[in-house]
Amino acid sequence: MIKPKTGSERAKYAASRHAAKMVKNGMKVGLGTGSTAAWLVRCLAERVKNEQLSFVGVPTSEETAQLASELGLNLSTLDEVGHLDLTIDGTDEVNNAFELIKGGGGALLREKIVAKASAEMIVIADPSKNVEALGQFPLPVEVIPFGRGATLAAIESLLEQSGYKDVQVVLRKRDEQVFVTDEGNNIFDLHLKMITNASDLTCELNLIPGVVENGLFVDMCRQTIIGHESGIVMIRRMAGGKVVTEQTDEITNLFSDIGEL
Ligand code: A5P
Repeated sequence: MIKPKTGSERAKYAASRHAAKMVKNGMKVGLGTGSTAAWLVRCLAERVKNEQLSFVGVPTSEETAQLASELGLNLSTLDEVGHLDLTIDGTDEVNNAFELIKGGGGALLREKIVAKASAEMIVIADPSKNVEALGQFPLPVEVIPFGRGATLAAIESLLEQSGYKDVQVVLRKRDEQVFVTDEGNNIFDLHLKMITNASDLTCELNLIPGVVENGLFVDMCRQTIIGHESGIVMIRRMAGGKVVTEQTDEITNLFSDIGEL
């Protein structure tokens, strides 16, 4: 496996390595998208190779499907497996109420469908993703290309009525071209600065014709695993209606178990 080079990569690796241990033989597992989820995929591939772990993965994007298949993971589709035991995914922001903003990588639609079809969703991240309030990261909203201007006007009107001031709504581009998702849609990034009621906003956005889905994940994740570059992992989870936090011991040789390139 490649080695994590930067502090941020080491933190993502530490979180991913811990989360990968939660996958058991026979499980059906949703595989998230993004740079953190890529570490998860690598860690799972190591377990398959070293421990003969046997599980079925359902990727949340073409990008993840490609990496996972290159590493020899056994993959399926959501339609084939129907229901998943667990989804492990990264995030762009997570607050203390386990609410998330996702979609920085453009995969929010498949990610949300896969997470919803899972008995459990675990978020893995480096400490920079842990926030007091959601909204510094622009909220991605996936829209169909038809009537995009009308959908934009409806989003702006909703934001104004909801009391959001001085907001910017930006059509996402990549390499100067309008960004197209795996489902052939486009994304508006909503620069809101602070989201006060994620639960209301997610419902209201999704009522606008032309909006397919938005990047707020509310009431979906019950556990976060935040890795630190030292190798320490902080776990927060809901158990019996309470938030339980745990911290692993520092593992000085955490990164020594990674094979050479
Ligand atoms: C992909 O669409 C996103 O939801 C990612 O899960 C999120 O952007 C986190 O990505 P990184 O792990 O690369 O920060």
